[in-house]
Amino acid sequence: MAIERTFSIIKPDATERNLTGAINALIEKAGLRIVAQKRIRMTREQAGTFYAVHKARPFFGELVDFMISAPVVVQVLEGENAVLKHRDVMGATDPSKAADGTIRKLHAKSIGENSVHGSDAAETAAIEIAQFFSGNEIVG
Ligand code: CMP
Repeated sequence: MAIERTFSIIKPDATERNLTGAINALIEKAGLRIVAQKRIRMTREQAGTFYAVHKARPFFGELVDFMISAPVVVQVLEGENAVLKHRDVMGATDPSKAADGTIRKLHAKSIGENSVHGSDAAETAAIEIAQFFSGNEIVG
């Protein structure tokens, strides 16, 4: 399996509770390397573009409001099978359905305030990474 990259966000509910380090420890323990990372305040435009695929969903407005409510940490993660590995360590979107030991089971507050985002495929990851990082900011 070739080395792959995925895009990750530590969301406002987690940064507000000072959980960046705890979440990074779980990411690293899962065998992923954090090869780029920055703490930013997302603009409404950035959040709307990022979640454009969910524009028609009833929770879209709430989702954008939440993502700009406090700082987030955007990251590029690298490793073998990184997309799947990261999805496994995040756990299910709804924390009540997430497996024991996963980030969302341990830390998420609700399906909306679910602490982390991860790309769903390598193709999506490339698009999401390009929205927030330029090539020279990623150091593998
Ligand atoms: P994420 O992986 O970032 O991708 C889309 C996000 O929409 C998801 O995590 C959740 O935070 C959010 N989301 C999904 N379903 C709901 C819902 N029913 N109500 C509110 N937010 C949701």
